[in-house]
Amino acid sequence: MPGLVIVGAQWGDEGKGKVTDLLAERAEAIVRFQGGNNAGHTIVRDGEEFKFHLIPSGILYPEKICAIGNGVVLDPRILLGEIDGLRRRGVDMSNLKVSANAHLIMPYHVLLDTAGEVKLGKLSLGTTRRGIGPCYADKALRLGIRVQDLLDEKILRAKIRTALASKQQALRELGVQRRKLRKEAGEGDREAAGQAIEEAPDPRLDLHTMTEEHVSYGHRLEPHITDTSRLCWETLDAGRTVIFEGAQATLLDLDHGTYPFVTSSNPIAGAATVGAGIAPSDIDEVWGVAKAYATRVGAGPFPTELSDAAGRHMLERGREYGTTTGRERRCGWIDLVALRYAVRLNGMTALAITKLDVLSGIGPLRLAVRYRSREGALLDSFPYHQSILHSAEPEYEELPGFDEDLGECREEADLPPQARALLDYVADFVGVPIRLAGVGPGREQVVWLG
Ligand code: IMP
Repeated sequence: MPGLVIVGAQWGDEGKGKVTDLLAERAEAIVRFQGGNNAGHTIVRDGEEFKFHLIPSGILYPEKICAIGNGVVLDPRILLGEIDGLRRRGVDMSNLKVSANAHLIMPYHVLLDTAGEVKLGKLSLGTTRRGIGPCYADKALRLGIRVQDLLDEKILRAKIRTALASKQQALRELGVQRRKLRKEAGEGDREAAGQAIEEAPDPRLDLHTMTEEHVSYGHRLEPHITDTSRLCWETLDAGRTVIFEGAQATLLDLDHGTYPFVTSSNPIAGAATVGAGIAPSDIDEVWGVAKAYATRVGAGPFPTELSDAAGRHMLERGREYGTTTGRERRCGWIDLVALRYAVRLNGMTALAITKLDVLSGIGPLRLAVRYRSREGALLDSFPYHQSILHSAEPEYEELPGFDEDLGECREEADLPPQARALLDYVADFVGVPIRLAGVGPGREQVVWLG
């Protein structure tokens, strides 16, 4: 510490929220630097479950600053819903800060995301349909609307008008598509059709309505709007710890993940500099979070994916259903080729291995240590070429399993030797120490190591 980045080391849903929550005890501020409400963190505190999509995981500490950085894309309706929900449960929201430079997910972004996915049909990416891709696209096109725009009705109206103009063609197509989907409802992708109809244009896309609605969001968000980069500098300069909390994960990175089956931002540690407005030299530590197995939601390559009883066990025992979309996650063995790639890309200084308890009862345990290409070549590193990755077959190291319930383990010595051997194997293979192992969903269900 004091500048500590927490990133997902696999395809997301590794339990970053819990790790952030634990490390936040030692921090002054927790800052999110990318993604939007495509993310979902679940934190269990004193038996009570909290789910967040936008708000940083540290919010349950009233004295800590929680910031949404400029690199996040923010749906104001969702953020205000989260603020209201947490307030109702007695959580103090006065330390929530929102960057004035963060971009807004507008209603047309959500529509375009859904329409794009429906249009792609079988080739769809399996996005969360929260408008993430279209919002980041507008940011890059310089047609984005930022949090600060909410505070000036004239600017806001002009910017919405400009952004809408460039989308008219796509939105017109959407209208046609909507009528077509209405006709076809009952055939094919019923759920998608239903969703597209339900979310179809009209009132919410009206310039006047949208402006009015967003002005009122601005009034409500105003007390939280801040220069969050300065806030990070001041905290770091005072020698206090700031945690930069990543959403999604390394293999979903727009540049370094399994493109095009990725999200539209950069969840790797380097992106914390841009997404929070800090310097590379402000980062002192990088913690990667990985499950003791692997999961993925949405489409895309997943070399160690299982469709057998072990995969079913991971799904059920690990309760592998998406926090954001409720979708079943695809499950498989831990992939150390991919993990070593993530370690290098992020410059990880420590690893947290979560959900170790889920592996109980499915021995022998398997860990992918290399891939074999279709032509028979052995690959020790993560292939950059999509076709090679798509057809890569993993080769496994097998370790003895364990049947004990790990839920009560709190010290390294409480873990069965097979579980310890698994952790040692992973740490040696990727060359990074494991500092923490998760043994259940509860906050206290962790074993600190080393
Ligand atoms: P998008 O981020 O909604 O555009 O979705 C792009 C891809 O990233 C899809 O495969 C999603 O399932 C995946 N994705 C987005 N957010 C998360 C997350 O928080 N956890 C896991 N997968 C995610």
